[in-house]
Amino acid sequence: MLLESIYLYNFRNYIKQDFNFNKDNNVIVALNGIGKSNLIEAIYIFSIARSFRTSVNKDLINFGKNDASIISNIINNNKKNKIKVIFKKDENKKVFINDNIVKKTSELIKEFTAILISPNDVSIIEYSPSVRRKYLDMIISKIIDNYIQESNELKKIIENKRKILKEEKINEDLLSVYQIKLEEINVEIINKRKKILIDLENIVNDNIQKFYKQIEKVSFKYINSFDNFDIKKEKKYRECLFGAHRDDFEIYLGNINSKKFNSTGEKRLISLLLKIAEKEIFNKKLSIKPVILLDDAFLGLDDERKDIFFKILENDHQKIITTTNEKDLYFLNNINIIKL
Ligand SMILES: Nc1ncnc2c1ncn2[C@@H]1O[C@H](COP(=O)(O)OP(=O)(O)OP(=O)(O)O)[C@@H](O)[C@H]1O
Ligand SMILES: [Mg+2]
Repeated sequence: MLLESIYLYNFRNYIKQDFNFNKDNNVIVALNGIGKSNLIEAIYIFSIARSFRTSVNKDLINFGKNDASIISNIINNNKKNKIKVIFKKDENKKVFINDNIVKKTSELIKEFTAILISPNDVSIIEYSPSVRRKYLDMIISKIIDNYIQESNELKKIIENKRKILKEEKINEDLLSVYQIKLEEINVEIINKRKKILIDLENIVNDNIQKFYKQIEKVSFKYINSFDNFDIKKEKKYRECLFGAHRDDFEIYLGNINSKKFNSTGEKRLISLLLKIAEKEIFNKKLSIKPVILLDDAFLGLDDERKDIFFKILENDHQKIITTTNEKDLYFLNNINIIKL
């Protein structure tokens, strides 16, 4: 997988700008607040069909303008595609592949796969369950074709069930119809999430065994909210409280709950190992080498960890790396430096 170039129009602080990339190491150098993360954000939109920073299209458009677009040339399986995403205020985004409009998000995310690595990755451990669910769902939607449809179906069923729960007199028959539907789709989604967690856990521990022998094993525990299903509680709060939309997973380093007890550095290492596992899952399941986006990724890592980290990442992936100081990346070969 190769990102040849990207063109940004009215995207964030960019008015009109082209960037070309080499197939190895691209280093984006600039001081704070110049647009490094904005460029990474634009590239990652092609991978997950949304921004990782905002769900509001308007935020992506240069202040005071009405629309923005981003165009990329991507080589996948020796085939070159031009992908364009247009953002307008108060409208859904529009996606074009080789000038043909694309209706389904799943079609876009098939064309380009990137792994985003940044200090913000600790949010997977530290933030709310929804961040962890989104993380798992993003990986699964890349490797299982109908997962986006299943997730959308879950959303619809939840919406309908919620409406019934909010009615003054609850329609019990209809409620049980939606309950059965919810249980069916729930099993499908949970099984897929549990499977991917096992894959991630195995790869993380393989890499610990190989490169970080001094730390303990990492494990994940899926928390199924349905285990505590209580219809009385749902009726009391008039809310759909149990289901895949409320699930979570816990992360352990040895026997210790990472979110509750690990240090910042430990959390940072676990989240990096998770990202590397994500890359290996895409390698294995999709037979592709995703583009690796590193936004200030080494912040707070000592030199030894930096070096090992690059060893794990291997050389045959295209990397796009941001830094405020190019000297930090002295150990890389074949560098294309882009100064903003
Ligand atoms: N919609 C927008 N329109 C115009 N400017 C914007 C918009 N959104 C963000 N910006 C500005 O873009 C600038 C660059 O932000 P960015 O996050 O890319 O910086 P950075 O180079 O990654 O900096 P750092 O090194 O601090 O991480 C910021 O000054 C920000 O205020
Ligand atoms: Mg930044």
